[in-house]
Amino acid sequence: MRLVLIGPPGAGKGTLAVRMKEKYGVAHISTGDMLRDNVKRDTELGKEAKRYMEAGKLVPDDVIIRMMAQRLKEPDCNEGFLLDGFPRTVPQAEALDDLLDVMGLTLDAVILFSIGDEEVVTRLSGRRVCKECGAIYHISFHPPLREGTCDLCGGEVVQREDDKEQVVRNRLEVYRQQTAPLVEFYRAKGLLFEVDASRSSEEVLASIETRLGVRDDHP
Ligand code: AP5
Repeated sequence: MRLVLIGPPGAGKGTLAVRMKEKYGVAHISTGDMLRDNVKRDTELGKEAKRYMEAGKLVPDDVIIRMMAQRLKEPDCNEGFLLDGFPRTVPQAEALDDLLDVMGLTLDAVILFSIGDEEVVTRLSGRRVCKECGAIYHISFHPPLREGTCDLCGGEVVQREDDKEQVVRNRLEVYRQQTAPLVEFYRAKGLLFEVDASRSSEEVLASIETRLGVRDDHP
């Protein structure tokens, strides 16, 4: 299974990818998580990425492409992968084609998560994440059992800097301008299918599995 997940911020790509990773044993590659990890460790890459991320802008393509060229070579990718947040521009998508060509691999599908702006703002203003393991929560839809504490690792659960409303609105604009053109890019290749991401995670997962032909009646 080799899939790309695209869609606006807050569409639920990360939430779905975690579930699919658990169920299908494929690698979940989130460029956002990789960048946040670099920021946390204060690496050179993290220092460069931080100012873009906090403003809701995209990190430059060359930085992302170099990072992904390394990541796709790691052994956990042999069983397949879910690309969450990459590619995000047409040059990134072209670079991904080149990387996969060299590896002799192709994508199975590109899943477009469709959702309205106001739902995105509601989801992201309520999102909380674990500082340690990155687990995703929502104050109303999926709160941790103990407020402020991760169910999985006991880490502190906080709001992401870029989930403040004004930054979310910038990210939506950046999505429209720089990432939305990928919809036509992948539609032209016959790889794209769309899911209504405003439904529950269970329903979104079920429709993806049906489209991929992997759904059974005993999830
Ligand atoms: P990144 O971390 O990739 O952010 P994003 O794409 O904006 O996506 P999000 O993580 O915000 O949303 P999501 O769709 O994963 O939603 P989630 O599942 O968490 O990128 C961050 C930044 O890094 C970028 O702005 C950029 O600066 C940089 N960057 C990353 N990749 C880059 C690239 N390739 N090129 C350049 N720059 C790059 O869900 C959101 C909330 O909703 C959660 O609280 C969740 O609990 C809740 N929720 C999820 N599903 C449902 C549901 N079905 N019903 C109700 N609530 C739900």
